[in-house]
Amino acid sequence: PAPAPDSADLAGLRIVVSAGGTREPIDPVRFLGNRSSGRQGVAIARAAADRGAEVVLVAAHVDDAVLAEAPAIDVRRAGTAAELGAAMRDAAAGADVVIMAAAVADYRVAEVADVKLTKESSPGGLELRLVENDDILAGLAASRAPGQTIVGFAAETVSSDDELVERARRKRERKGVDLLAANAVGWDSGFESHENAVVVVDARGEVVARADGTKREVANALLDAVVRDHRERLR
Ligand code: CTP
Ligand code: CA
Repeated sequence: PAPAPDSADLAGLRIVVSAGGTREPIDPVRFLGNRSSGRQGVAIARAAADRGAEVVLVAAHVDDAVLAEAPAIDVRRAGTAAELGAAMRDAAAGADVVIMAAAVADYRVAEVADVKLTKESSPGGLELRLVENDDILAGLAASRAPGQTIVGFAAETVSSDDELVERARRKRERKGVDLLAANAVGWDSGFESHENAVVVVDARGEVVARADGTKREVANALLDAVVRDHRERLR
C-alpha cells in the first residue's frame, strides 16, 4: 500500500527527476519529438515531495496542466537534449538520487536551418542528417558522487514480460545505473495514459519491484525500491 502522504519517510533526501520529452529543432517552426507526456516523471516528483524529499523537477515540454500536478516543486525547464543534459548535470550536483524519466531524443538535426524550410528548396522529398546526442544518463552514472543513486527508465516494444526484464537487465548494465525501470509500449499503450506498468531491475539483475496501476502508484512503488537500494548501498 502507498504510504500516507504525510509519512515523511524521504525527509532529508535530495531527489532530481526529469520528465517529458525533448524536442530537436529542424528549423524555426519544426522539431523532432516524441510522445512522452511527462506524467510518470511528474508523478514521481510529486510523490517524492509528498513523502518529504527535497525535489528538483527538470521538465522537457510538459504541459502546464500536467505540471500543475506537482505544485510547490522547484521546476526547471529544458527544450533540447543538450539543454536537458546541462540542467540535469547542474541539478545532480549534491543530489542523493537522480531519476531520468524523460524521453531524450537519441539524435539531433545536424544542420538546423535558420529559416523555414520550403518545398521549393527540397522538391519531391527532404533528407535530414541526424547526429547522435550524448547519453545524459550514462554520463551522470559515470561521474556520480559516492553514494549517489542513479535510476533510468526504458520504454520498450516487447512481446513478453521475460523479454522486457531481459532488455531492462541489459540496458541497466549498459548505462551503468543502479536501477532501471522498464515499461512496455506500443502504438496504443504507454503514452498519454494515467496508468502504467513497470518492472524495476537492480545491479544484480534481480527484479526488485513490479508495479501496475496509476502513475502515482507506480511512482510510490519505484520510490520504495529506490530508497531500499540507496540505503543498502550506504550501509
Ligand atoms: N537517456 C539519456 N540520454 C540519451 C538517451 C537516453 O539520458 N541521449 C536516458 C533516458 O532518459 C532513460 C534511459 O536513458 O532513462 C534509457 O533510454 P532509452 O531510450 O531506452 O535508451 P537508449 O540508450 O537510447 O537505447 P535505445 O537504442 O533502446 O533507444
Ligand atoms: Ca533512446
